[in-house]
Amino acid sequence: MSIKEQLDKTYQKLTKAGHISRSQSDTQSTNYYFAPGRINLIGEHTDYNGGNVFPCAISFGTYALFRKREDDLVTVYSENFPAKGVITFSLSDLDYDKADNWANYPKGMVKYLTEAAKPLSSGFDMVVYGNIPNGAGLSSSASIELLTGVAINDAYDLGVDRIQLIKLGQKVENDFIGVNSGIMDQFAVGMGQKDTAILLDCHTLDYELVPIKLKDYCIIIMNTNKRRELADSKYNERRSECEEALKRLQTKLSISSLGDLDIPTFEANRDLIHDDILEKRAKHAVYENQRTLKAKDALKKNDLTAFGQLMDESHDSLKNDYEVTGKELDTLVAVARRQPGVLGARMTGAGFGGCAIALVKEANTADFEAKVGEAYQDKIGYEATFYPAHIETGAKKLDW
Ligand code: GLA
Repeated sequence: MSIKEQLDKTYQKLTKAGHISRSQSDTQSTNYYFAPGRINLIGEHTDYNGGNVFPCAISFGTYALFRKREDDLVTVYSENFPAKGVITFSLSDLDYDKADNWANYPKGMVKYLTEAAKPLSSGFDMVVYGNIPNGAGLSSSASIELLTGVAINDAYDLGVDRIQLIKLGQKVENDFIGVNSGIMDQFAVGMGQKDTAILLDCHTLDYELVPIKLKDYCIIIMNTNKRRELADSKYNERRSECEEALKRLQTKLSISSLGDLDIPTFEANRDLIHDDILEKRAKHAVYENQRTLKAKDALKKNDLTAFGQLMDESHDSLKNDYEVTGKELDTLVAVARRQPGVLGARMTGAGFGGCAIALVKEANTADFEAKVGEAYQDKIGYEATFYPAHIETGAKKLDW
């Protein structure tokens, strides 16, 4: 069964059973939308430090069947969380409600998008199915935010531009859900292009689309299958640590973010921070930001060896200075690097579990997955999962 048939079938079942009520006079048409997940090639924990990131959208993502209603109710149902059933809220009450569970993502998007544009003329039904591995740190939340944003913007003709939708997605994450994340995920999900990575300056939002030509290499996503449970609180902690380090540097330097610092200026002034931990966090942000620019140049020159080395350096810095990896990610990355045909490996996303990526010669991938999988199982006690990364287009209406 295709994804479209599956969504149609679920919708029919829910309406027939009365879980989603519809009016007699209903003549609305049904539309379909897709928003991807993302991987970040390099530039980790730099976005909220005003630095550079280098992500791309992937083929895994979230699909929606979307249909306007004639009343002011919004009903959402996820095939991924059937036990949560149909979640219903009214356009006249768009406050966060813990009981709404995953539906807070679309709810937050409706709230901020209508505040920014205009109220919706009616509610809607949305049935969602996602194939982004759950809890893998591949941005399923940014995916559902942009999915909702793109669908509503299109269906109600709100005329909001893509960059603003992306910013509203980040606002949902920050102000509605309470995770202090940067803009990278929403930007990658909203702006991704096939076989292209996005070098984004998170301070100015200037970006450059860089074609990914990996010759006979490919990117393998390696999932630790460790859920990122404590991730949100640790994430917010790292962010505050960087803010504190910045404040201390600002006692002498006139900078607005750690991303403003080049390496020599940081080295000459790091003593201002007066705290070993904060100094390590700032060091990562500054060095990773410069590494990202170097990695972009390497990729543009088709120098995959240099790119792979920078991936390795990035992981080591995230492990030793930023301390966001953990034994699962470190095991995957260390074992991956020892395999033939591997040019580099690093964690991707927030860390604390989730996924890593490796640059692997195509001819070696089967062997690579078998060997890394076996060593991981031996050491960690459960399986890792591997997927080839297909770099795809960002959020869009589907021509179904
Ligand atoms: C998460 C956040 C992003 C970014 C990464 C780390 O994915 O949502 O904004 O900070 O972590 O690079």
